[in-house]
Amino acid sequence: MHVEEGSVVAHEPMGSAYRVLTLRLPRVAAQARPGQFVHLRLAMLSDAVLRRPFSIYRVDGDCVSILYKTIGRGTAAMKSIRLGDAMNVLGPLGNGFPLPTADAIALPVLVAGGYGVAPLYFLASRLPRTGLLFAGGATNADILCVECFQALGWDVRLATDDGSLGVRGLVTAPLDAWLGEARREPEFFACGPNGMLRAVGERAVAGGWKGWLSLDRHMGCGVGACLACVQMIRKDGVETLARVCKDGPIFESREVVWEPSEP
Ligand SMILES: Cc1cc2nc3c(=O)[nH]c(=O)nc-3n(C[C@H](O)[C@H](O)[C@H](O)COP(=O)(O)OP(=O)(O)OC[C@H]3O[C@@H](n4cnc5c(N)ncnc54)[C@H](O)[C@@H]3O)c2cc1C
Ligand code: FES
Repeated sequence: MHVEEGSVVAHEPMGSAYRVLTLRLPRVAAQARPGQFVHLRLAMLSDAVLRRPFSIYRVDGDCVSILYKTIGRGTAAMKSIRLGDAMNVLGPLGNGFPLPTADAIALPVLVAGGYGVAPLYFLASRLPRTGLLFAGGATNADILCVECFQALGWDVRLATDDGSLGVRGLVTAPLDAWLGEARREPEFFACGPNGMLRAVGERAVAGGWKGWLSLDRHMGCGVGACLACVQMIRKDGVETLARVCKDGPIFESREVVWEPSEP
C-alpha cells in the first residue's frame, strides 16, 4: 500500500451519469490487483480528511482509472477535477479477487450492478480466459462497458428495471435463465448493491459453487484502524467481525452473514 500524489491525465464522462477519472500513479499501478480499491482525498472538500473509496477499474501502464457515479457531496465535487490536478491517493487497498488459473474447471460468471462493473472489468482484463457477464441497472444509463467486455470476448447478458436495455427486471432474471440450462459449473464474481450480492451469494451456496462478493460499506480510514466498515462473517462456523476495507472487500458467499434487515 502506498500514499501517492497522482496527477490527473484524463477525466471524461461515461454516458449521462458516470465519469472515468485517470491518474498517473506508478506505484499503485504496479501493485494493483482486480477487486482492490483506492482511497481518494478530495482536497476541494472542507472535511478533506475523509477519503472516498473507489474500485480500480483499469490499469494502463503507470495510470490507474476509476469509474464513478455522483452520489453525494464528495462525488459531486469530483466533477470539478481538472487535467493536471494533483490528488492524494492511498492504495491499492483491500484483498482483491482470487484469480482462477487457465485450467480451472468452473466458468467465470461476473455479475455487476451499476458501477459494480468497474472492478469486474479489471478482473476480466486479467483473467486467462473468458466467461459470462450479467450486468444490471435501473435503466440503460446504468449499463456500462458492454463493448469493452465484448472486445475481450465475453458473452454479455443485460437486464434493466425499466426494460430500456436487455431483459426487464433484475439481473438475476437472465442469470437464473442461464443457470437453468447451464452445462458448466459457474464461479461467481459479483459487485453491486447488497440485494444483488445477497441473491448471487444464495445461488452460489445453494448450487455448491464458489461465489466471490465485493462488499460496499461506508468507510473511514480504509486501512483497518477505525472499524467504520465492519461486517459479520462466519469462519469455521464461528461468527466474527471483519473489516471490509482490510479483510475484504471480497468475501466468499458462505462467509457473509447478512443482517435480517438487509435486502
Ligand atoms: C470498496 C468500495 C469500492 C467502491 N467503488 C466504487 C466505484 O468503483 N464507483 C463508484 O461510483 N462508487 C464506488 N464506491 C462507493 C463510493 O465510495 C461512494 O459512492 C462515495 O464514497 C460517496 O461519496 P459522496 O461524498 O459522494 O457521498 P456522501 O453520501 O455525501 O458520502 C458521505 C460519506 O459516506 C461515505 N459513503 C457514501 N456512500 C458510500 C458507499 N456506497 N460506499 C462507501 N462509502 C460511502 C463516503 O465515503 C463519505 O464518507 C465504492 C465503495 C467501496 C466501499
Ligand atoms: S474503514 Fe476504517 S477499519 Fe475499515
